[in-house]
Amino acid sequence: MNPMRITVCLTDLRPESWIEGLRAALPEADVEVWSPGAAPADHAVVWAPPQRFLDEQPHLRGLFNIGAGVDALLRLKLPPQTRVVRLDDAGMSVQMAEYVCHALIRHFREFDGYEAEAREGRWSYRKPRERQDFPVGIMGLGVLGERVARAVAQFEFPVNGWSRSPKAIDGVRSFAGEGGLDAFLAASRVLVCLLPLTPDTRGILRRETLGRLHGGRPGGYLINVARGAHLVDDDLIALLDSGQLAGAMLDVFEVEPLPAGHPFWRHPKITVTPHASARTLRDESIAQIAGKIRAMERGEPVAGVVDAQRGY
Ligand code: NAP
Ligand code: GLV
Repeated sequence: MNPMRITVCLTDLRPESWIEGLRAALPEADVEVWSPGAAPADHAVVWAPPQRFLDEQPHLRGLFNIGAGVDALLRLKLPPQTRVVRLDDAGMSVQMAEYVCHALIRHFREFDGYEAEAREGRWSYRKPRERQDFPVGIMGLGVLGERVARAVAQFEFPVNGWSRSPKAIDGVRSFAGEGGLDAFLAASRVLVCLLPLTPDTRGILRRETLGRLHGGRPGGYLINVARGAHLVDDDLIALLDSGQLAGAMLDVFEVEPLPAGHPFWRHPKITVTPHASARTLRDESIAQIAGKIRAMERGEPVAGVVDAQRGY
């Protein structure tokens, strides 16, 4: 019997260490980097593959994305029998919890202000703020959002969560569905976006929604760590410039890398990071993908299979 074939197609990333790791984890398989015209594979490990890659995979059983978000993958025409599998945490959720807690605490404790004053040699205190006045709302309570919600709750901030289906998470007030969005926004002052990018969530961070934070009072803060296309950039700038929002920390952008002249780079109330809030960890990811390929071959269920209709 021919060995199982695994192809690797990682656009803009170097594949060598992935090939080496996958060969070590799956010695029974034939693991090769994809090149146009190569023999079709049984499973693929991918990041942003071109349509041609998929067109050449008529028998593909598993398509393993080396990220959590599958929005770019679902825009392609996929072989009908192929199951798309996302990374299921693999070391990302703790990184995301670090990032969001950092952004939240930096804003709440006014560390930017202290840093600026320290650079001027000034020793001055700010009035302590009440964390009850800074309820945090997390949009998306999936693999990453739930971990973030639990981490934020440990710092004793009030925490709200919004998802499609209601959740029962200790210390988190659950809001669900379109009908729950207004009440969720009104009850939240710091908004964290951890939604998948789908037709329902594209542009969800816009003037009407962001303007409803904190019951419409000024002083809201945005942390977007999901996808740039969730946010309407001009609306954010208008809300910051009018004083309705106090600031934003953004890790993801509609165009990445963020173009040199984009106003986010220089806006005094915006902090930019280069899509670095939760990096793919290679060894953890290879171990997870190898385990799932073996489980799939045995006909067992695997976690993280994407529902293409739902979009995540
Ligand atoms: P996930 O496990 O699929 O969770 C998605 C959550 O969003 C679920 O709670 C889901 O609700 C909710 N949701 C989806 N559509 C909704 C809608 N229309 N209305 C309300 N709630 C909705 O995803 P994840 O692993 O937590 O990752 C979330 C996103 O983070 C990824 O899709 C990716 O884009 C982004 N990400 C970014 C980075 C980075 O470095 N910046 C790294 C990894 C991931 P239900 O629970 O009810 O289904
Ligand atoms: C990164 O953005 C991911 O989706 O894993």
